[in-house]
Amino acid sequence: MEIRVDTSPIEKLSVDALAVICFETQEKSTDSPGVTPESDGDPEIAGQSGWLRELRSSGEFSGKANETAILYRPNGLAAKRLVVVGAGKRAKFSADEARKLSGSLLRQLRTKGIRNVAILADQASGISDYAAVAEGAILGAWEANKYKTDPKKNEKQIELLTIAVPNGSLGIAEEAVRRGSVIAEAQNLARDLVNEPANKLTPAVLADAAKAMSAEYGLDCKILDRDAMAELGMGALLGVAQGSTNPPFLIVMKYSPGLTTAGDHLALVGKGVTFDTGGISIKPSEGMEKMKYDMAGAAAVIGAMKAIAQLKPPVQVTGYVPTVENMVNGNAQRPGDIVTALSGKTIEVLNTDAEGRLILADALTYAQRNGATHMVDAATLTGAIAIALGHYNVGAFTNNQSLLDRFVTAARVAGEKVWQLPLDEDYKEYLKSAFADLPNIGGRYGGSITAAWFLREFADPTPWVHLDIASTAWLDEGKAWMTKGPTGVAVRSFVQLALDWTGKPPA
Ligand code: BES
Ligand code: MN
Ligand code: ZN
Repeated sequence: MEIRVDTSPIEKLSVDALAVICFETQEKSTDSPGVTPESDGDPEIAGQSGWLRELRSSGEFSGKANETAILYRPNGLAAKRLVVVGAGKRAKFSADEARKLSGSLLRQLRTKGIRNVAILADQASGISDYAAVAEGAILGAWEANKYKTDPKKNEKQIELLTIAVPNGSLGIAEEAVRRGSVIAEAQNLARDLVNEPANKLTPAVLADAAKAMSAEYGLDCKILDRDAMAELGMGALLGVAQGSTNPPFLIVMKYSPGLTTAGDHLALVGKGVTFDTGGISIKPSEGMEKMKYDMAGAAAVIGAMKAIAQLKPPVQVTGYVPTVENMVNGNAQRPGDIVTALSGKTIEVLNTDAEGRLILADALTYAQRNGATHMVDAATLTGAIAIALGHYNVGAFTNNQSLLDRFVTAARVAGEKVWQLPLDEDYKEYLKSAFADLPNIGGRYGGSITAAWFLREFADPTPWVHLDIASTAWLDEGKAWMTKGPTGVAVRSFVQLALDWTGKPPA
């Protein structure tokens, strides 16, 4: 799909469909004569106000989010169709809503064989975030159809999206569309990787994908293999990997800006378990197929690094992806095994299914030894995060409130929801091992918190944020703006965090 910005009069846009936004009407107001409640919030489009008013009063269209009405061959417009799109309450309309609206709209229109769409993004439409419109369109277009052999399923796509903006906004809009496109394409790369089944995407294939992306966008990429990791002493990571015939890797992707604002060095760390059987503490077979998405944190880091390479934020960023397959064979790690992590701490592996924290522990230590001053990890770490937060918010934990505040601000700008969970000293009591420095699981309670505490033992004293994306990286049911399957969550927040990096945390 090509996305263009256009400032010509909308009457002249010769497209299959011209979309205009209408808000839900407000309560009847008696104190503003001349404003009919029916027309309040409707856009000014040559000769169409009569139709819009009639549409409103028919009761067929109220302006609720995702509602659409189509007028064919509208008088005075070059467009073949005028599509009125409901956008909900004007006061609630935001960049997030614009992103969703654009995705939903294009997903809806493409099923009608429409190829060429324009969206009116003038002042009245309330759309000021052109990047969000581009993002919504690109994210909405993505389908998990790579392995469908029926070509008809792949045919219906919007080919050209025109964003119609006011005269003075051309430059700003073009820049925003470029940024939004880069970010959404990066998020889609993450979704492509997550969508791959584990027979196609092994740790080696993930490493190759990171290498290819790095070569294309000019990042320095280094891959540590099993021998290199053994040499360093990454016993926690290697213990998980030993039950699989697919060898493990640690992927390192480096971005260095021309100009840095400070000596800061941000590390993004992503859990890359290409398949999680649970190991000897094996998972129930029901739903196990979904454990191909246990590398969604890794995918988010690779996706974010791709966007960062293009958008060039003013801070050094290195992506670290420990990648393994958690399998069961005659050499698999056993419950009760004690491993020595890169940091030197010993870990009693009480449950081989708590493997993500083991590989992340060594990656966090390695990132610090390679100069990280700030770290953010993303991991499909615990089923418990879905119990705590459901499927809407990413769970966030930190050892440094000001870094988490920065991250939350970035996530808000990026339109990703994040909710902080506690990580105070009390919870550390849940992590006690009789035979080693620490166990890899806590007790029955606060499962996401004990997992985070385990990571913290390897992140301290470096400022660090942990994102548990287990319940947000995969949609079990599609939304109007996004298909079922991988979401690519965390990519946008990662990129925004780097873009907004100032070297100084907020006061
Ligand atoms: N990859 C899983 C977590 C997960 C569960 C991700 C569901 C996505 C959906 C992780 O490795 C795991 O198995 N965690 C265990 C931890 C437990 C053994 C302490 C869990 O959540 O059950
Ligand atoms: Mn597991
Ligand atoms: Zn896992």
